[in-house]
Amino acid sequence: MDAKIVLLPGDGIGPEVVNEAEKVLNAVASKFGHSFEMPRFPMGGNAIDSHGNPLPDETLEACLASNAVLLGAVGGPKWDDPNAKTRPEAGLLRIRKEMKLFANLRPIKTYSALLASSPLRPEIVEGVDILFFRELTGGIYFGPSGRRDGENGEEAYSEMVYSTGEVERIVRLAAAAAQNRKGNLTSVDKANVLETSRLWRQTATKVVEGEFSGLNFEHVLVDAMAMHLISRPGDFDVVVTGNLFGDILTDEGSMITGSMGMLPSASIGSDGPGLYEPIHGSAPDIAGQGVANPLATILASAMLLRHSLSLEEEASLIEKAVDDVLAAGHRTKDLARGGASLSTTEMGEQVLAAINQA
Ligand code: IPM
Ligand code: MN
Repeated sequence: MDAKIVLLPGDGIGPEVVNEAEKVLNAVASKFGHSFEMPRFPMGGNAIDSHGNPLPDETLEACLASNAVLLGAVGGPKWDDPNAKTRPEAGLLRIRKEMKLFANLRPIKTYSALLASSPLRPEIVEGVDILFFRELTGGIYFGPSGRRDGENGEEAYSEMVYSTGEVERIVRLAAAAAQNRKGNLTSVDKANVLETSRLWRQTATKVVEGEFSGLNFEHVLVDAMAMHLISRPGDFDVVVTGNLFGDILTDEGSMITGSMGMLPSASIGSDGPGLYEPIHGSAPDIAGQGVANPLATILASAMLLRHSLSLEEEASLIEKAVDDVLAAGHRTKDLARGGASLSTTEMGEQVLAAINQA
């Protein structure tokens, strides 16, 4: 297969972890006889510095014309000034919208080799395998917002808006995924307070009852879900929720696995290229030190091969290589709990070795 995979290394540790994933993709390509062209484009804070725009036109055009996009991370203190004209995060929101990536899949899966790395007790964490579907191009992230004069001084507002069409398409994807897994679907909202959540709940119910009647389906309020994720994460299979709730709950969920450095994500639309990235951010505190965990980005490249290129065998090989490396006891600093740890490139080399041995 010939494929064009656009790399957006971004800021902070982004370039460090994307480098390792690129090596892994090259190794898989030569093993299976594929040819991956992987051009790099600026995005995020570095693109603000070079182009005055976190998502330059040439970057967006290249992404839209690709088979898939692999992103490191964007943002950092250098671009955090609240009065700045633009921010790295604005580029991320815009690329999601322009590429119509309404579904963000975030698997939260524990590795038995990492049970001791979780802040939760092993018996709570063991066997956790949740697939989150976070709605990504609607809700409060994209509703009307602004500032105005109010009775108590200046006011700011950010509106949460959802349409039935937006809810239907994400719930359909999540429900279809649940059918292929354990058959359990949880929809998370705040229907006791928010009108958007009442529409969400009503629409989700209609879709599931009308089209996926075999599923075990429940609604859970977001505050309760925050508790359940810590007290009984093993009870969940597929979870679907809106943009803001999904953002927060998946960060919480990532800690179940021990480190955010392990979690990949896929952002997809109904067709066209998908965007794949680790869920950790740019981690400015450790950027440039060569200690970042590249596994989330390497696992994101596996999701890329599976979802955008339909290369299931290649994707599984990468995932198996990561399993093997962890089982062999290799750890980056985030997982080492003070013990011996590998650098970013050393961890990448371990994964490469496992792929080449397979
Ligand atoms: C994420 C990030 C982004 C988000 C930020 C960087 C805009 O936290 O991908 O979860 O909130 O969506
Ligand atoms: Mn987030």
